[in-house]
Amino acid sequence: MVAFAQQRGRSATIGPRFDYWALTPAAAAICYPFLLRAFHAVVGTQAARPSPLAIVAATLVLAVAFVVPFLALAFACRLDAAPGARRLAYVGVASPTLFVFLGVVQALIHSPLPDELVWCVLWLVIASWSQTAGNPAAATQLAVGRWRMVHGMTAAVLCLYVAFHLANHLFGLIGPDAHAAVMGIGRVVYRSTVGEPLLVAAMLFQVGTGLILAWRWSAAPQGFHRTFQVASGMYLSLYILGHMNSVFIYARSFLNIPTDWNFAIGAPTGLIHDAWNIRLLPHYALGVFFVLSHLASGLRVVLVAHGASRCAANRFWGAGVSISAVISAAIIAGMCGVRIR
Ligand code: HEM
Repeated sequence: MVAFAQQRGRSATIGPRFDYWALTPAAAAICYPFLLRAFHAVVGTQAARPSPLAIVAATLVLAVAFVVPFLALAFACRLDAAPGARRLAYVGVASPTLFVFLGVVQALIHSPLPDELVWCVLWLVIASWSQTAGNPAAATQLAVGRWRMVHGMTAAVLCLYVAFHLANHLFGLIGPDAHAAVMGIGRVVYRSTVGEPLLVAAMLFQVGTGLILAWRWSAAPQGFHRTFQVASGMYLSLYILGHMNSVFIYARSFLNIPTDWNFAIGAPTGLIHDAWNIRLLPHYALGVFFVLSHLASGLRVVLVAHGASRCAANRFWGAGVSISAVISAAIIAGMCGVRIR
């Protein structure tokens, strides 16, 4: 089935063909900032408390904003898409994190243009490129084996940091003091003169190898699990670059502010009631969800390679994805003020 679709993917780009349907992820991404605006218009600032009806309406709008990356994921699964269209869909998955990245870059360069305007122009450019991109189906023939191995080995090391970092954020459910206390312990290692450069180098290496793999895998249609793995990796690569830009360049060098709990939750207004900060909510929620579910996807491949049945490996993956969603929701709840005592 996939081989048949690969064949179709190849022939699809031989003649001129304008695939309007394939532009859906770009159209959805263009709507994304306006959905966040609508959310803010309904919720308003903290001073004016929203009515229960407004809360239901705001929840629905936010849910639709969350649909944008998953709609793009569905389009990345299309078996008859041309490679450019598939890659457009993969970039669409990363919309929530790209919109944060754009906002931070805009602030860094003191851009007078509204984020939404720049966003729409960028998506129109990416969408046109996706229709004209050549067919790199031959790239699928290139070996991904050694890249997969080094990517997996670095991931195993980085897991230690990610596990600590996410556990640290879960302490936000107890309160900012507990979060700060745990962060203080971790910083002794990950912000040390040796630890920090190593961590940053490993993260950048992971992003580089991940993007190489994503580029190669995205040249041809894949099964659902592989597509999810590539899509989550795409999100993570852009998330990590944007997140490190926010932490190291924007906060620590440009604003000269500590990268603590208040920075993470966008204090004093917080994530929910600020027109800019609301974009951080899907960005963080999906960052946590995709880093954990990407690991589950990697482990699924390892299980299959070691003789586990596909059915058992898929069940393991499903459990991993569900746990990722629960952990993500718990961290975001803590960041939005939910406390467990
Ligand atoms: C809810 C989600 C997340 C939030 C709120 C968050 C927030 C933060 C904050 C506040 C810092 C500064 C830490 C410090 O000053 O000690 C930081 C650093 C960092 N985060 Fe995250 N993070 C999140 C998820 C992630 C994920 C999923 C990754 C990796 C995939 C990640 C990678 C990093 C890295 C590499 C650093 C730099 C560490 C350093 O200071 O040397 N973060 N993050």
